Amino acid sequence: MKRIVIFASGSGSNAENLIKFFHNSDKASVIQVLTNNPHAKVLDRCKKLNVSALSFNRVAFSKADDVLNILKASQPDLIILAGFLWKFPEFILKSFNNKVINIHPALLPKYGGKGMYGMNVHQAVVENKETETGITIHYVNENYDEGAIIFQAKCSVLSTDSAEDVAKKIHLLEMQHFPEVVNELLK
Ligand code: GRF
Repeated sequence: MKRIVIFASGSGSNAENLIKFFHNSDKASVIQVLTNNPHAKVLDRCKKLNVSALSFNRVAFSKADDVLNILKASQPDLIILAGFLWKFPEFILKSFNNKVINIHPALLPKYGGKGMYGMNVHQAVVENKETETGITIHYVNENYDEGAIIFQAKCSVLSTDSAEDVAKKIHLLEMQHFPEVVNELLK
């Protein structure tokens, strides 16, 4: 059984979708969810789904070895950042080389980098009158949103679409593709 650990900072709809998908798998399972936000909705979702979840603070994550040691004990085959907003420390990346992936709600390299998360991304897409956008699943390296791309899926942006409309389309793409891409990656 392959072991998946998810990092999330907020709602956690992607975390929930992944957890449910792998509940029915005999090949992989989400064994743990970690969050920097003790009030994140993802924690409620984990409780309902019976998945172990922990929150941590910045020192435990970026300065001390606490989160690194949790991960070493969990021995994940894959670490998934799903709506995780803190920069992933290099010393943790080194211990899990090529095992950390992220989902980004735009077609990287467009609309990536610091500050480009959540509605900021979709607002920028609408303001720039893009005719298409999408999702990118990519490896995580030491720079925000710059690791090798694993998968992209596109959707159209209509001239009448608001940022909220775009967010809904992106959400659908994420729900549709993310678990399958992870499943393939683990093979
Ligand atoms: C998703 O749009 C994801 O692409 C981005 O943050 C959002 C997280 O949503 N990185 P949720 O917490 O999974 O609902």
